[in-house]
Amino acid sequence: MPIRGSISLPGDKSISHRGLMLAALADGECVIHNLSTGEDVESTRNCLLNCGVLSRKENGVVYISGGEFKNPDSPLDCGNSGTTTRLISGLLAGQGVSAQLVGDASLSSRPMGRIIVPLTEMGAEILSTDGKLPLTISSRSLNGSEYTLPVASAQVKSSIILAALGAVGKTKIIEPVKTRDHSEIMLESLGAEISVKKNEIMILPLKDKLNSFELTVPGDPSSAAFFAAAAAMIPNSDLTIRNISANPTRIGFFHALEQMGGGVIWKNLHHECGELVGDVQIYYQPLHGISIFENQIPSLIDELPIIAVLASTADSPTVVEGAEELRVKETDRINAICKNLSAMGVEVIEKKDGFIIDAPNILQSASIESFNDHRIAMAFTIAGLNAGSYNKIDNMDCVNISFPEFLETLKSIIK
Ligand code: S3P
Repeated sequence: MPIRGSISLPGDKSISHRGLMLAALADGECVIHNLSTGEDVESTRNCLLNCGVLSRKENGVVYISGGEFKNPDSPLDCGNSGTTTRLISGLLAGQGVSAQLVGDASLSSRPMGRIIVPLTEMGAEILSTDGKLPLTISSRSLNGSEYTLPVASAQVKSSIILAALGAVGKTKIIEPVKTRDHSEIMLESLGAEISVKKNEIMILPLKDKLNSFELTVPGDPSSAAFFAAAAAMIPNSDLTIRNISANPTRIGFFHALEQMGGGVIWKNLHHECGELVGDVQIYYQPLHGISIFENQIPSLIDELPIIAVLASTADSPTVVEGAEELRVKETDRINAICKNLSAMGVEVIEKKDGFIIDAPNILQSASIESFNDHRIAMAFTIAGLNAGSYNKIDNMDCVNISFPEFLETLKSIIK
C-alpha cells in the first residue's frame, strides 16, 4: 500500500538535549516548544532536575529555569542516552558539580574514554574503572585547551564546548570531519563568544549567564528518514514531511536518497533560531545502489540502518565504508543490520567498517532482533512494508527512546 499524506514530527532529539542544557545556563525561565518526546531527552531533563535546575511541562510546552547547580543527592540516571551522558559530563564538569553518572546495560557498555580524555586535559577529575559508566565527576576548576578529536563525534565536541563555557581561558576544538553543529548554532544565537571556521571551533567562557530564550525545536530529520524511506520504496507513494531540520550536517540521508534516484524536493526553507528548517516532499521512483564513504558518515550516521533497508530494494549494489562508529551505538548496528537483512533474504556482506548489499533482492518478512535499539526496530518495521507481510519485531517498546509516536504516525500515512 502506498505512503501518502502530510505530517509534522516531534522535535529533533539533538537540538532538544542542547536546548535543555543551555537553558540550565540561562538567567530566568526558558520556554521550549516541540521538545522531543523520547525517553532520551527526558533522561537529560531528569538529570538537570536532580542538579537543582527547575523545569515543568504544561500542555506539551517545557519551561526550564537555570540558577545555581547543586551536587545531586543520588547518581544521575542517563538511561539509554549517550548524548545525555557525554554532553552533561562536560556541562557539569564546567560548572564544578560533583556527580555520579549511571545508565542502562547498553549505555554502560559504550566508550566514555572519548570524553574522559579531553575533559581531564582541561583539569576535570572523572573516575571510571574501564572507560565506561559509571563515571564519577568531582568538582574541579577547568582551563581552556586545544583538542583535536580523534573520531568525528558531535557528542564529544559538544561535551568539550559545554565544559569550555565554564573554564578559564579559550578552548579550540578541531574536528576531522564536520559533525552536527547545533551546539555552536544555538550558542552563537544566544550571544556566547564562539566562532567556527571550517572544522575549527574557538570558544570563550561565559562572562554571565546566557539570556533566557524561547525555542521551537524543528522536527527530527532522523525520525523523518523512516517515513521518507517508506515513501521512496513503495510505488505510488508521495509524502510531505513539514518543518524538519534541514541543517546541512544532518541531511546526508536525503542526499543519499536523491543519489539513489528517489524523488526528494525541499520547500519553504528558512532559518529559525539560526537553524535551517523546511518541508520535504518524497515520492517513489526506482532506486539504484550507491557508495557511501567515510567523510559522508557523520551527516547520516543515525540513518544508516534505514539506508541499508532502502539499498535492499535497489536494483544495483550499495557499499558503505568508514562507518566503524556504528559498532559503538546503542548496539553494534553493523552487526544488527547485517543479521536482520540476512534473515529477510538479502545478500549482505558484513565488513569491519560497514557493509556491502548486493542487488537485486526480494525481501521476505522475518523475525527481527531489535537488540533493544530504537533505530533497528523502526528501520526493520519499514523493511517489512516491502516484504509481503509485516516483520515480527522482538521489542517495539524501544522506539520510545527517540520516537514514541512512530507506529501511530506510520499507520496514518499507509493509504
Ligand atoms: C548526536 C551525535 C551522534 C548521533 C547521536 C546524537 C548528538 O553521535 O549518533 O544519535 O546529538 O550529538 P556521535 O557524535 O557520538 O557520533
